[in-house]
Amino acid sequence: MTEMKPVTEATAVKAPVLPDAQTVTEVKHWTDSLFSFKVSRPASLRFRSGEFVMIGLLGDNGKPLLRAYSIASPSWDEELEFYSIKVQDGPLTSKLQHIKAGDQIILRPKPVGTLVHDALLPGKRLWFFATGTGFAPFASLLREPQTYEDYDEIIITHTCREVDELEYGRHLIEDIRQDEMLAELMGEGFADKIRYYPTTTREKSPKMGRITELLKDGTVFADLGIDGGIKPDTDRAMVCGSLAFNLDIKEILEGFDLREGANSEPKEFVIEKAFVG
Ligand SMILES: Cc1cc2nc3c(=O)[nH]c(=O)nc-3n(C[C@H](O)[C@H](O)[C@H](O)COP(=O)(O)OP(=O)(O)OC[C@H]3O[C@@H](n4cnc5c(N)ncnc54)[C@H](O)[C@@H]3O)c2cc1C
Ligand SMILES: NC(=O)c1ccc[n+]([C@@H]2O[C@H](COP(=O)([O-])OP(=O)(O)OC[C@H]3O[C@@H](n4cnc5c(N)ncnc54)[C@H](OP(=O)(O)O)[C@@H]3O)[C@@H](O)[C@H]2O)c1
Repeated sequence: MTEMKPVTEATAVKAPVLPDAQTVTEVKHWTDSLFSFKVSRPASLRFRSGEFVMIGLLGDNGKPLLRAYSIASPSWDEELEFYSIKVQDGPLTSKLQHIKAGDQIILRPKPVGTLVHDALLPGKRLWFFATGTGFAPFASLLREPQTYEDYDEIIITHTCREVDELEYGRHLIEDIRQDEMLAELMGEGFADKIRYYPTTTREKSPKMGRITELLKDGTVFADLGIDGGIKPDTDRAMVCGSLAFNLDIKEILEGFDLREGANSEPKEFVIEKAFVG
């Protein structure tokens, strides 16, 4: 039998107290370079679907090591979900990729961002253009009732290098289509408004190529049966990918006479970087 010893100040192990700590409740690894996780939600945190916050861990120097992360869960959810890259020599994600349920992370409860409904003028068809982890803000907006109240059609394009990298998005949309609670919240048949358009660039899949090229040569419109391309009076767009991707899509959207909006000045499209560098 193990001998019980009284806990003295010398023997007591104090749990480290992180500033703005939240508890990890679930972790799912999708590929060698992608994972998603859920954490508890601070009672005071209010955010608009599509916004991002700063999250992180304590660095080796004892100071918070924080990075911007889109909240992938919708504004009404009890928990917060994130979808993350694993950069093997990345200061944060080289460590963050090892978190487990029960661990703590730091979450600064100050949501911000431009990929929000408020930054767009009213329209009929909403395009979400994502590459890689740029899918994250749209994982939130695809579960947001306002998306279906405000639009007749939601087209989500997701371009990744390889087929496996599409899996988080594919799985999420499949879940949305089958979720009875969401159907009750948003109205039966709401998910029929979603048109999912995944493409890969380096591994063979049913639809290959950069979405930018598929927009320029009209393939997307032919595939989706859209006459006349993107129109400024009906179409709205949100864009989230690398800087190069964002700039290329911006040029295409401006070619269709859409204008970039912001929280303070809603227009026809909005853009946010999925990462810096
Ligand atoms: C507004 C905003 C929202 C963001 N939301 C997310 C999110 O939801 N999920 C997420 O994984 N990351 C997101 N990021 C990126 C994130 O802030 C970090 O860069 C990422 O977690 C890597 O951190 P790190 O310290 O390990 O490496 P860093 O030093 O931050 O990055 C090292 C290098 O890795 C590459 N890289 C970084 N992040 C990514 C990425 N997401 N996809 C592809 N390459 C990348 C870049 O080349 C970068 O220079 C977001 C960034 C911004 C600006
Ligand atoms: N994911 C990986 O397997 C991998 C492997 C090694 C290194 N990395 C590094 O990790 C970082 C992120 O990789 P990632 O694959 O997540 O993101 P990424 O390099 O931004 O690519 C994501 C997807 O977006 C496409 N894309 C990139 N720029 C585009 C543009 N201007 N217009 C249209 N489409 C564009 C890519 O197509 P293309 O394939 O045509 O570029 C790819 O399908 C990069 O710095 C990369 O060098 C990633």
